[in-house]
Amino acid sequence: MDEQQAKKEIATLTKAINTYNRAFFQEATSLVSDYEYDRLLLRLKKLEERYPIYRKHNSPTQRIGEKTSKHFPTITHQYPMDSLSNTYETEGITQFIKRIEKKIPDVPIEYFCELKLDGIALSLIYQRGKLQKIVTRGDGTQGDDITTNLSLLQNIPTKIVASNLPSDFEIRGEAYMEKNTLKKINEVYVQKSKAPLANPRNATAGMLRTKKPDESLKDLRPLIFCPYRLLGEKIKVSTQEEALETLRSWGFHMPATQQYTQNLQEIIDYINRWQKQKNTLPMMIDGIVIKVNNIALQQKLGNTAKSPRWAIAYKYKPENAFTQLKRVTFQVGRTGVITPVANVAPVLLAGTTVKRASLYNADEIKRLDLHIGDTVSIEKGGEIIPKITCVNKAKRNSEHIPVTFPTTCPACTAPLSQVEGEIHYYCLNTDACPPQLMGQIEHFVQRKAMNITFLGTKTIALLFTQKLIRQPADLFDLQRSQIENLEGFQEKSIYNLLSSIEKSKEVPFEKVLFGLGIRHIGFTVAKKLTHHFKNINQLITASKEELIAIPEIGEKIADSLLAYLATPHYREQIESLRSHGLQFQISENTIESNTLANKTFVLSGTFRHYSREEMRDEIEGFGGRVISGLSSKVNFLVAGEKAGAQKLKKANKLEIPIISEETLEEMAKKKAN
Ligand code: IVH
Repeated sequence: MDEQQAKKEIATLTKAINTYNRAFFQEATSLVSDYEYDRLLLRLKKLEERYPIYRKHNSPTQRIGEKTSKHFPTITHQYPMDSLSNTYETEGITQFIKRIEKKIPDVPIEYFCELKLDGIALSLIYQRGKLQKIVTRGDGTQGDDITTNLSLLQNIPTKIVASNLPSDFEIRGEAYMEKNTLKKINEVYVQKSKAPLANPRNATAGMLRTKKPDESLKDLRPLIFCPYRLLGEKIKVSTQEEALETLRSWGFHMPATQQYTQNLQEIIDYINRWQKQKNTLPMMIDGIVIKVNNIALQQKLGNTAKSPRWAIAYKYKPENAFTQLKRVTFQVGRTGVITPVANVAPVLLAGTTVKRASLYNADEIKRLDLHIGDTVSIEKGGEIIPKITCVNKAKRNSEHIPVTFPTTCPACTAPLSQVEGEIHYYCLNTDACPPQLMGQIEHFVQRKAMNITFLGTKTIALLFTQKLIRQPADLFDLQRSQIENLEGFQEKSIYNLLSSIEKSKEVPFEKVLFGLGIRHIGFTVAKKLTHHFKNINQLITASKEELIAIPEIGEKIADSLLAYLATPHYREQIESLRSHGLQFQISENTIESNTLANKTFVLSGTFRHYSREEMRDEIEGFGGRVISGLSSKVNFLVAGEKAGAQKLKKANKLEIPIISEETLEEMAKKKAN
């Protein structure tokens, strides 16, 4: 390479990396995979080392992280918040060990291995055991004071009581979101027509920079804090292992995944073990961190400009695979939203065979400039569903035709339209488009709504194609004689289905309203509306002004409700359901459904009759609240099998009653009078 080429490449790389940094730090989006990012940064670093005169003044190799935000007070870190150097090869670890052994010869070095949690670094500042501030890394020297977002985080004790407590100290660690939490939040987002969050790390970054955290997220406390470093002048620990043990005894969340190692082979074994097991963890990790265990030796080794010499990150390459795009199908959701899905030649990726990948929306197809027959790279990043990350255009030929977004509904041929301000296309033929009708019934019968059991997707499709049901109200006209000869129906399942339908007539008004599947009206909103208006007549006659006067009911919800009620087909549906005896007013049943009002619960362990998710729904259905962190504000700890010993101990200390699943059920079912 000649000098001019190097100059040009340095400029291009600087520009590209700065763009990726801006997207990542300011908009919480990743334009490239971590692997690609690190590869480009390394290339830039090497070129700059060879041709230092061409290094740009704004080179990303000279800075870490982001600028501080205007929205939060800026804090100067007492101890700089460094980054870690990283490697994707075991050779990098060998070099790391060699460098250390050269600097500290003749002493056997002990290493401490930890998981590299994929989240956002935070620093907690404590004085006399009391939490003073939570600060982000920022540019490593100055960060944002985000203490106001404490309510989004679990496992941060605001007061630590211990005999070995130094007066001032700082705790460094990672805030992250579990994969299941992301799934849960995204389900709600999709229901509210909000774009789903791409992966747990971006979700964490986005959430921590919000000025006013969403009230509903506060209940969920979606982020977990896990410490990995203890800093301060009077800290009396001599190893990293001891530091983590101390933090555990102070009440911090400390998984038992770390390991003490003595040589390269043990480190490699640790890397391989977690490479295999990482998909089974509740959170995302992007590698492991290897640290010199002895803190005196860490100090002796010191730091380079950006990172310590006593630690290194080994990062896992993203699991990706190349395959061929066969076709793109367009799915129609319950609300008429059209989602493109890529169908690819089956390929093995991260232990499962992938046949489909999500394409999200029309813009994504444009961004990829996707053609049928393309060789595409599929990645399972933080995302639960694999996605297409890029196309190998060199392998494209003239037979590969561009993917176009349909203009009519693939299920019912009605024209598609784009709702203002939204990226999605919709089929507006809501009262005749088959997948929408089936989706509406599926939504109506779900546990959180009418709780009609024995009616899964397949059975709904069967009854629909047999022309026995077309809308929710038809379920109440179903006759035994109509279904007894259908495939899969036996005496017991017929009885179960029909009695479950009958029983659903007792389901309280709020669940019925939620079950109607009106856009933007989720469970909590339905509850607010029914409690405010008491019956359907009052709700039907409410004006927009009246609706938006209710706290937390905005214009979007009001418009959606008014549009629904102005549609004759939906009004008929409500009338029909009412004539079948469903609850359209607050009744004794509804009072009963509020037996857990003003009570806050924490769950621990596994339950016999419910999954965690169902248990939460159940409690919320009866008006209670479920949060994750135990504090004096919690009324009950519901303990299932294998309940956490720490939680039980803490509940006892705080004198919070520990109840069983059965006791909870009794409390919920008890009449309010
Ligand atoms: S130690 C002096 N340990 O990875 C740097 N970092 O660039 C001390 N991370 O920003 C970092 N898990 O947020 C350390 N077990 C772990 C970690 C960890 C995740 C993050 C950290 C840092 C980034 C490395």
